[in-house]
Amino acid sequence: MNDVKTNFDIETTDYVVTNYLKNITGRAVMYMENGFPVHLRGPAGVGKTSLAIHIAKKRGRPLLLICGGEEVNNENLIGGYFGVRKYSVEDNFITTVHKKEELIRKTWNDGRLLTACKEGYTVIYDEFTRTPAVINNVLLSILEEKLVDIPYGNSNTFVKIHPEFRIIFTSNPDEYIGVYRSPNALTDRMITIDMVDMDEDTEKSIIMSKSGLNSEESYKIMKLSRFIKSKLNDNDYASIRGGIMLAKIVHSSKLKMQPSNLAFRQVCKDIFNSIHISLSLSLDKKHELDYIVDQAIDSILMNNIVSVKESQ
Ligand SMILES: Nc1ncnc2c1ncn2[C@@H]1O[C@H](COP(=O)(O)OP(=O)(O)OP(=O)(O)O)[C@@H](O)[C@H]1O
Ligand SMILES: [Mg+2]
Repeated sequence: MNDVKTNFDIETTDYVVTNYLKNITGRAVMYMENGFPVHLRGPAGVGKTSLAIHIAKKRGRPLLLICGGEEVNNENLIGGYFGVRKYSVEDNFITTVHKKEELIRKTWNDGRLLTACKEGYTVIYDEFTRTPAVINNVLLSILEEKLVDIPYGNSNTFVKIHPEFRIIFTSNPDEYIGVYRSPNALTDRMITIDMVDMDEDTEKSIIMSKSGLNSEESYKIMKLSRFIKSKLNDNDYASIRGGIMLAKIVHSSKLKMQPSNLAFRQVCKDIFNSIHISLSLSLDKKHELDYIVDQAIDSILMNNIVSVKESQ
């Protein structure tokens, strides 16, 4: 099951913090200090999950990561009755009378969200719109009334949530599969920060930290990647993963980033055209995409673009 992960020590040692990320982190921390849930929204690969972990770790509370999906249900969020426990009582008080009584009871196990609510964890609910909206309804009373509605026994019981309990949501509004439109009642209870405008410095710094390339090389890859993204006519494609992949390969396989290096050109095409994988990709479309990559390499590497900071 992909959705049950309790992690008190998620590794984020290579997390880069720039002014852009500091600004979002500062706002998110402020909203959370005031008791509000934060929602990081943006297309794939813009750093939502990494930032959510970074923000959550700042709180210094135990952390629970829930990955949205079809597998998330009331039992694994709130809890349920799992199995039965058998009790037997033997009564031999009067030696001539032997009485044996057997009791069978269902046992209740708390779900991970309920535990987080009771213990005051920081929860990251990653891609929460991948969970059916009706399952997420339990969050309405958690976020507003600060109560969890628990179906213990026959009548519902309400449990008060711990004052330190906080939740950070992430979502990608542009995904086209497996997404449930989040009800306004839920999004109305959170503060949404859109992550669409990562700046060049942040993208370059992440590429550098992830690959081991130097600042100038990382800058070139960032520019290359941005040039390609700008020509794709696809506003939803803002991912920094292509740049990271290319930088890692250039670094570890010692690929020369030169326009004359055909191997480098081919690697760029393999990476940046991957986003368009589709069975119906026509040869014309593929040539068009290859042309964009060639154009980017010629424009960025032939002109030997260097960052202003580097050239000083
Ligand atoms: N500040 C950062 N420092 C270092 N690496 C980062 C940073 N932000 C993002 N990354 C890296 O960039 C990549 C994409 O980030 P992440 O997975 O957080 O994006 P996402 O928006 O959650 O993507 P998706 O929508 O596909 O889940 C990952 O490899 C991540 O480690
Ligand atoms: Mg993510």
